[in-house]
Amino acid sequence: MADVTFTSPAMPKDVTVYAIAGDTRTLLSVAKEHKVPIHFECENGECGSCACEVSVLSGKTPLGISLTEKEKTVLKLAGKITQQQIDDAEVKDLPPPWRLACQFIVRHEDILVKF
Ligand code: FES
Repeated sequence: MADVTFTSPAMPKDVTVYAIAGDTRTLLSVAKEHKVPIHFECENGECGSCACEVSVLSGKTPLGISLTEKEKTVLKLAGKITQQQIDDAEVKDLPPPWRLACQFIVRHEDILVKF
């Protein structure tokens, strides 16, 4: 169970939704269900339009979150993450700040999503 808070200049106020434990949906899927207007096009990790900044609010060490190959490629081409951040994600399980909402699986931790 996790609170997912969305914040954006595109919304009049922040929106916090509750993601159910064991749910393995993408961040984009959760956003769409709650009518949070994250921009998207391909929904397949290829266009980069759903890139957003994700930070963990719990104060705990973020859960190890693997990047998909598509995320690595698209976010690096867009200048959102560095090779060092990709290496840190793979070797140290340190998630980078930018993710693709259509690839990011919501986990059991409270997060803040900026877009
Ligand atoms: Fe295209 Fe997520 S919607 S990369």
